[in-house]
Parts: sequence; structure tokens; C-alpha cells
Amino acid sequence: MTDAESPRPPASAAAAAPGDVLLSVDGLDVDLPGRTGGRVQVLDDVSFQVPRGRVVGIVGESGSGKTMLLRALMGILPDGATREWRQVLLDGEDITASLPRRPLPAAMVFQDPMTSFNPLVRIGKHLTEVVQRFQRIGRRQTYDLARDALTAVRIPDPDRVMSRYPHELSGGMRQRAMIAMALLARPELLLADEPTTALDATIQAQILALLRTLQAERALTVLIVTHDLAVVAAVCDDVLVMKDGRIVESGEVERVFREPRHPYTRELLAAVPGGIESTAGADS
Ligand SMILES: Nc1ncnc2c1ncn2[C@@H]1O[C@H](COP(=O)(O)OP(=O)(O)OP(=O)(O)O)[C@@H](O)[C@H]1O
Ligand SMILES: [Mg+2]
Repeated sequence: MTDAESPRPPASAAAAAPGDVLLSVDGLDVDLPGRTGGRVQVLDDVSFQVPRGRVVGIVGESGSGKTMLLRALMGILPDGATREWRQVLLDGEDITASLPRRPLPAAMVFQDPMTSFNPLVRIGKHLTEVVQRFQRIGRRQTYDLARDALTAVRIPDPDRVMSRYPHELSGGMRQRAMIAMALLARPELLLADEPTTALDATIQAQILALLRTLQAERALTVLIVTHDLAVVAAVCDDVLVMKDGRIVESGEVERVFREPRHPYTRELLAAVPGGIESTAGADS
């Protein structure tokens, strides 16, 4: 286990019965070819548990490995990367050996939706292609499922949006469409890498609220990378704090923000102007 400074993480993870933990990762190492030769270890013995149905925030300074952690879970690391883990449990089942072939039931949302969309392809086609990857049904049904995904993310007039090109949508609508696309892959685990950083504050709040709502409606488990501790306080149940490719602290947001154990967590919290008021962790 990597949690050198703090004992095993918290109530949410430690006290949960095995069936309540969706994903348990033990000893994840990732290294990449360095830019000036050699190898760079970007994740170093990372271990954590993701309780089912929770929203888990991942915080830490730039370069600490947050994106690489999500990419390692998705199996979409850069060329030349190696990924190794001691053990991965999904719903208590050891899937370590089958992982390279059978990916986790996860879908990912990126900071910039344009990285997920081909600018020359209409939104509708992006969505129906995902539907077709998962089921063989008629065209009408495929279209309806895709359109319903836009409704699920609260896009008004989904039929109109189906016929639009990505650049014709506002940033917030594009982000919603990307979330719709992720949902169509029917993930149990939704991974979001700074999904609102590029958006203005009002839209950010709407997208975060949407993620929280979708979590509840679809019994999703959500991992969300953010550099904004206020976001963690507002929408996350649990938090992982990363530094230099390791998890230095993890636990329920309420506990970690109230009594941070690792000096780095304290530093992060102290750097927030005006401090943090934790409202999450409590019942929502
Ligand atoms: N394609 C790449 N090739 C080599 N090294 C990389 C590559 N992408 C990232 N790295 C390195 O991997 C480490 C972890 O990067 P990562 O992108 O996961 O950080 P992060 O925590 O997501 O940072 P940020 O908050 O800036 O997004 C960094 O040291 C980074 O320089
Ligand atoms: Mg990143």
C-alpha cells in the first residue's frame, strides 16, 4: 500500500463490505519513455479503493500523475508506456490477469471535448457510433438511444443538436454531449479529467451538478480530477491526494478537509484563498 503517511483510507473504503467496493487497485506502476532518454516513473505503487456509487475527487499539483492515473485505468497510455499492477479487483473479483484484454467498465470525459469529437462529424453520428459498438439494433432505435442520451444530460432540443457539428455547440453543451457519449458506453465507472476547467464559472457549476445527478440516477461511480478544492468540497464524497506519482492521502472529503494528515494536503488546503467549506461527504 502506498499510503505511507496515513493509515488505510477511511470509513468509506475500509469499512465497506467487499461488495461495496467497485474498484480496488493495488500497486499500480506506470512508466514512460523520458523526453531526454531513460524512463520516467509517473505512477509509483499507487493503491486505492473506489467505493461503489461515490464521487471521488483526485487532486494534486500539476505533473503529479492525475491524468496518467485515469489513462492507466482506461488503458489509453501514451506510446511506449508500461503499466503494471499487483492486483485489481472489480466487485471483489480478481481481474488482474484479464485486464489487458478486457478493459474496465469505464468511460472517460476529457477537459476539452474537441479531443473526443471529430470536427467534421455531426454530434448525432458520434453518438450513434457508440451505440452501434455496444448493440445491434435498427437505425431508428439507435437514433433514439443516442437522442435520449442527450436528453439525459439535459440538452434542450436534442434532435436539433444531433444534426450539429461539434464547433456549432457552446462549450457547456459540447461538454454535455461528451458526457452523453460516455454514458452510451454504459460504464459503471465514469472518469472525468478536469471536465469543467475550460468553462466559465456558471457553466462549470451546472456541469458538476449534472455529474452529481447522473451519478445518482444511474448508480454510477465517478472519479473526477480537478485542481479546484472547492469543487471537491462541493461535489465529491471521497478524495485522493496525489504528489509525485503517489497517493499521499485519501479518505472522505469531510475528514480529509477537516483534519488533513499529510503535510502536502495541509499545504494544498492552506493555499485556498478564503479557505474551504466542506459541504460534501454529508448526506446529499
Ligand atoms: N506523453 C508523455 N510522455 C512523457 N511524459 C509525460 C507524458 N505526459 C505526461 N508526462 C509526464 O507524466 C507526469 C504525470 O503527468 P500527468 O499528465 O498525469 O499530470 P497531471 O497531474 O495530470 O498534471 P496536470 O494537473 O497539469 O494535468 C508528468 O511528470 C508529466 O511530465
Ligand atoms: Mg492532467
